Amino acid sequence: MMELIQTQQSDGVLTIAINRADKKNALTREMYQSMADAIRSVKENSAIKVIRIRGEGSCFTAGNDISDFANRQDGEHVGETAAFMAALADTPKVVIAQVHGLAVGIGTTLLLHCDFVYCATNTRFVLPFINLGLVPEYASSYLLPRLAGHRKAAEWLMLGEPFGADEACHFGLVTKVVDTDELAQTVDEVCAKLVGKPAFSLVQTKYLLKNDADDIQQQMNEELDVFIEAMGTEAAREAFDAFLKKRPINPEKFK
Ligand code: COA
Repeated sequence: MMELIQTQQSDGVLTIAINRADKKNALTREMYQSMADAIRSVKENSAIKVIRIRGEGSCFTAGNDISDFANRQDGEHVGETAAFMAALADTPKVVIAQVHGLAVGIGTTLLLHCDFVYCATNTRFVLPFINLGLVPEYASSYLLPRLAGHRKAAEWLMLGEPFGADEACHFGLVTKVVDTDELAQTVDEVCAKLVGKPAFSLVQTKYLLKNDADDIQQQMNEELDVFIEAMGTEAAREAFDAFLKKRPINPEKFK
């Protein structure tokens, strides 16, 4: 069986490729755990300076696997996701996301924890939590207003509608928008530049930039409690079931 998360280390870069194209790279518990392990495995490895995250196929990721959401009511399921996000938020390595097609849900949330985000002109971003009866996660309710302002954060999080690459760039969610067929090469070049920088300066610059790590962690914990509560509500159960059965949401159950 093909690995759903493929990793490769070369020329100072750990590449993590999400490889579940038939399901739009939706992320399962096992996939989060594989990514968490990969990120942690290079923490003490001085040969690796950069972590690059990208998706195979037509998109970056359609976000959390909704059948995983639907199958767990107890909150236990978030363990692997939390391990991944903690590994991402804590890593001393420079993290670059290479985004194309779609970045849904946690696919957009995780970008807030990356140092560089390059996206293709064809990218659609969406934070659909509100439409699933859920709430923001993994410090997005802390980081997004600081990045884009309350006004934009409220729109993205309370309407949950898709937005494009130019809007994402304008509000600071991405570093740069590039032509779809030039994306990989652009990221190759940035990786090579970063690998050429002195290790001490790189790590310390990242550390100094992220001087609010404790606040981020505290907000993540608060969000997680609310998120787990939200998952048990009738609205969320209805939204998951509707997605899985490919039927419209019943507004009577989505209040
Ligand atoms: N969880 C589980 N399965 C997913 C998924 C997800 N988040 N996103 C896509 N898939 C599956 C679809 O069920 C479909 O499976 P099937 O071929 O067995 O029927 C397959 O991936 C292809 O998706 P499809 O919906 O046919 O593609 P599309 O191009 O018409 O639409 C999306 C793509 C991403 C817009 C749509 O799949 C979608 O809205 N997904 C849910 C996104 C979401 O809300 N994520 C949760 C974030 S918290």
